[in-house]
Amino acid sequence: MIKIREYTFYDINQIVKCGKNNLPLFYGIFDMLINIFNTNQICYVAEENNNICGFIIAEYEKIEGSKIFNIHIQSIGVNKNKRCKNIGSRLIERLKQNYHKQISLYVKKDNIRAISFYKKNNFEVIKKKINYYKNYFKNESNDAYLMKLIKL
Ligand SMILES: CC(C)(COP(=O)(O)OP(=O)(O)OC[C@H]1O[C@@H](n2cnc3c(N)ncnc32)[C@H](O)[C@@H]1OP(=O)(O)O)[C@@H](O)C(=O)NCCC(=O)NCCS
Repeated sequence: MIKIREYTFYDINQIVKCGKNNLPLFYGIFDMLINIFNTNQICYVAEENNNICGFIIAEYEKIEGSKIFNIHIQSIGVNKNKRCKNIGSRLIERLKQNYHKQISLYVKKDNIRAISFYKKNNFEVIKKKINYYKNYFKNESNDAYLMKLIKL
């Protein structure tokens, strides 16, 4: 059975491995450690038989002029052999338990699978960000969409 739970320090190696295997752009272990000690950070993992098959990392950001927080998703990934089994949606659901007003993220404009996944989870495209990835990806689009889930 796949369980969604908060990460612990001992998960970091497996999270980095899952991130590197599933995302075109992911932290190395050093950046990951720095992130994890940031108190604004939230991270949940999907675990099956002591193996991490998915994770979500997000950060609380203060909304200017308000006491309310935005949650910004920095990364989400699910192992290829575990996709389309609702694990990604369960990770988003877990994150939603913390949110006040909105959840935001950037997604590569040509990441059709992820955009469809976010739309299925009620996120909307807010705007296009030209060259958001600053020419990191060669011979492909570096544009992104800002997407948000807003509580009414
Ligand atoms: C995006 C991701 C986290 C979704 O995880 P998941 O566990 O497969 O998600 P779910 O099972 O909850 O939802 C799957 C949804 O993805 C979308 N999807 C999956 N395969 C797709 C495809 N080939 N084309 C278009 N949409 C697709 C659909 O909306 C699908 O919903 P459906 O099964 O109801 O049709 C996973 O695909 C992944 O790790 N992708 C690589 C990393 C990545 O791109 N992360 C986002 C960076 S911003």
